[in-house]
Amino acid sequence: MAWWHGTTIYQVYPRSFADGNGDGVGDLRGLIAHLDHIRDLGAETVWVSPFFPSPQRDFGYDVTDYGSVAPEYGTLADADELIAQCHRRGMRVLFDLVLNHTSDEHPWFRESRRSRTNPRADWYVWRDGRGRHGRRPPNNWRSNLELRSAWQWSPGRGQWYLASFLPWQPDLDWRNPQVREAMFDVVRFWLDRGVDGFRLDMFGTVMKDEALRDNPFRPTLEDGDLPRLWRRPFNRNTEDNFTLARDLRAVTDAAPEPERILLGEVFGRSDELSGYLADGHGLHLVFLFDLLAFRYDAGFFRRLIAEHETAFPWPAQPAYALENHDQTRSIDLVGGDLRKARVLAVLLLTMRGVACVYQGQEIGLPNTYVPLRDARDPMVRELLWWLPEAVSRRLRRRVNRDEMRTPMPWTDAPGAGFCPDEVVPWLPIGHVPGRNVAAQAGREDSLLELYRRLLHLRGRARALREGTLRLLPTPRGVLGYARRGPAERWTVLANLTGRRARHQLTDRGELAVGTDPDVSVTGRDVRLAPHSAAVIGHR
Ligand code: GLC
Repeated sequence: MAWWHGTTIYQVYPRSFADGNGDGVGDLRGLIAHLDHIRDLGAETVWVSPFFPSPQRDFGYDVTDYGSVAPEYGTLADADELIAQCHRRGMRVLFDLVLNHTSDEHPWFRESRRSRTNPRADWYVWRDGRGRHGRRPPNNWRSNLELRSAWQWSPGRGQWYLASFLPWQPDLDWRNPQVREAMFDVVRFWLDRGVDGFRLDMFGTVMKDEALRDNPFRPTLEDGDLPRLWRRPFNRNTEDNFTLARDLRAVTDAAPEPERILLGEVFGRSDELSGYLADGHGLHLVFLFDLLAFRYDAGFFRRLIAEHETAFPWPAQPAYALENHDQTRSIDLVGGDLRKARVLAVLLLTMRGVACVYQGQEIGLPNTYVPLRDARDPMVRELLWWLPEAVSRRLRRRVNRDEMRTPMPWTDAPGAGFCPDEVVPWLPIGHVPGRNVAAQAGREDSLLELYRRLLHLRGRARALREGTLRLLPTPRGVLGYARRGPAERWTVLANLTGRRARHQLTDRGELAVGTDPDVSVTGRDVRLAPHSAAVIGHR
């Protein structure tokens, strides 16, 4: 099997991982100095969120130059060094590519917005408006969170431009062959420097309906628990987007060995998203984000697994995460209960697919509360500034993305080992006793050591990474599945209830990893403590 098929990804948000030059902002030097943490943890692939030049209004997801490094993060030589240092440790590295939009300060857009006739006039999605004087947006598409139209009026051109996320992130027009070539060149630029692939930001919206048809109005609950008023057949997951996945694949396939990969950030139902894989000729992997919206409940996981088995049957691999730089820390979704966080770690790392761990998840880092008025996150500043603090404070799913982006705590020092103690970091550090790397390293019962044991087991046990999966009949509240490869077999059992549970295996097994000292396997008899899980090997 290809290297990526059974890999485990560790997501680094470089601004908050480690500050190498003491300015309170994480950087590439800091990341390089902490690569051993990721290697020792046992993750093989590092995905690094954007570090390219940017006004940092969306902290790098608003790029002004795809071919260099923002000075606050380092230099191009540091990026080369990052690639080399990952490879030296036998690891792979993925960069984060924002294909859908640029910053409005990108030279391409500055030129494009100037007139209807300049050489880059049609590099972005520009249209005349509707109605008298064209002052109504060209169609009914909504931007992020649906709170506004996706169209922005530009007095300079007397036209509208499309911005699917935030107003200053104009969408590139990928139907323009020059845009395609320019962006494919960006891909080639980093491939030539040795990167192992890309996480593709907002890939699902890159190719829009050619005629820009109105989306149908149909209220639903989707994308986790966000209510939506419009379906989006015309600006999301279009057939043309699946075709683009194939075209991009041809670009990465043309690079010399090892195989370079494409991991899409896409949203939608899993059966719809399998279109991106294009029977092995499209993206290598796509995130199935239904896990982000998990409920801590055996039934939820059973349904999720069953759905993935249908939509992404072996050898296709789903990719998933419990948290990321946009979504609530998972420990907070289980009420801070470390026993539950341990169960989640087992499920994440033994279900069938490519698992992604977000920095800090391995030490049970919770969200760090940041009031909306202090938010640096542009989603709050642009879209949610009106939300009363008293309401925001009570939301289970946090809306201020700052809260999951606070600095990685390496130690319990005032600067958490992230930055010098006397420096004020770009976001506040959440000093939670025991939730730092130094406090947990080497402590048998820590979450960090559990992640290590699981990742190292996953590294050795091919069946856990790439084997088939079969759901097992289990008592209520208990989830069980069997993983099978050519040479090994494993049983995973998780008790997601507050009561003890027992289970009879069909044949003898040995406990490889248990999340609780009260988990035991004797012959065929498995005993599970409340909120515990076991990975059991069979000879
Ligand atoms: C993706 C990123 C998010 C960013 C947005 C706009 O969803 O994960 O952080 O703000 O795209 O690029």
